[in-house]
Amino acid sequence: MKNESDLENMLSEPSDATRRVLSQTPGDFMVLGAAGKMGPTLCRLVKNAAPDRKVFAVSRFSDPAVKDRLEQSGITVISADLAERQSYTDLPQIPNIYYLVGMKFGSTGNESFTWAMNAYVPALVCEHFRSSRIVALSTGNVHPFTPVTFGGATEEATPDPKGEYAQSCLGRERIFEYFSRKHSIPVVNMRLGYANEPRYGIIVDLTQKILKDEPIDLAMGNVNLIWQGDANDIIAQAISIAEVPARVLNLTGPETVSIRFLATAIGKFLNREVAFTGSEQPTALLFNAARCFEYFGYPRCPLMKMVHRVVDWVASGKTIHNKPTKFQVRDGKF
Ligand SMILES: NC(=O)c1ccc[n+]([C@@H]2O[C@H](COP(=O)([O-])OP(=O)(O)OC[C@H]3O[C@@H](n4cnc5c(N)ncnc54)[C@H](OP(=O)(O)O)[C@@H]3O)[C@@H](O)[C@H]2O)c1
Repeated sequence: MKNESDLENMLSEPSDATRRVLSQTPGDFMVLGAAGKMGPTLCRLVKNAAPDRKVFAVSRFSDPAVKDRLEQSGITVISADLAERQSYTDLPQIPNIYYLVGMKFGSTGNESFTWAMNAYVPALVCEHFRSSRIVALSTGNVHPFTPVTFGGATEEATPDPKGEYAQSCLGRERIFEYFSRKHSIPVVNMRLGYANEPRYGIIVDLTQKILKDEPIDLAMGNVNLIWQGDANDIIAQAISIAEVPARVLNLTGPETVSIRFLATAIGKFLNREVAFTGSEQPTALLFNAARCFEYFGYPRCPLMKMVHRVVDWVASGKTIHNKPTKFQVRDGKF
């Protein structure tokens, strides 16, 4: 991976299964909230899997460069603020919707806006796209913390979102579920946990800290991680299992990854000593994606390959998003 163009090509590469599933899925595709960290590569992956279909990318496009790059990839771009009811008048009816709109960082101190983005926008979307199938991105943060020996919360665990960001995300799921029941909209609420790529994710955060000789906080001592290319691929395929009433599906990697182990491995790769602060707690925000793997198979990128790709990129000084994940947070304040 020499540059961002190589990287984005890699993150946009569909599996054979996704090519097959999307070619058998009738109609065009639309990604809502397409301009963020995942949207551009998800749009391109869907286009690569179903080149004969239209793929629409809808966002406000706060960064106009993202819009240009999507258009160059054959994606049909629509600028719209999905929090405004009048924006929907011009949005075409598309059978397959991927919903990525979300608000996390800066939510503390901006609670009403957070709730509007995470729990009100879904209502507008469901009213407009009541004849579509929807994969709605949620987050593992709706889960309770579980003992690190438990193998992570399953989809059956009673949600226990900590703080208003996570609570509003449970609100997002409930609104999709409500409209799924009301209008018979097939929906999957996908609880994603930490997509990693060389510009964003926990591995980037740890690598940066180790390069700056800063200690690694062990308070959230265990995590789940997935390569963003695999997350995109599974999200794309999940349109095929949307159902009424809305179903919930965890999406993350198969391992419970110790932060101490991960930071030590990164340190070895960088030839640096790693300092730690605090100690591992008996519980962590962990969840279990076994059901997801039953549907879609294991992720293609194993943990250590992900680590090498990310560390190599960050250590060579290439561009990163500069958006720390704040994975250490235990009080739900982001
Ligand atoms: N990345 C992860 O590791 C991760 C982990 C767990 C869950 N998730 C969930 O997965 C989803 C996608 O993740 P992401 O990392 O790509 O999120 P992201 O970077 O926050 O992207 C979401 C995009 O939605 C667009 N948006 C926000 N408000 C909008 C509005 N009113 N109208 C139209 N577009 C709007 C924004 O682009 P504009 O400013 O251009 O409109 C934003 O960049 C999020 O909902 C997130 O909660 C992600």
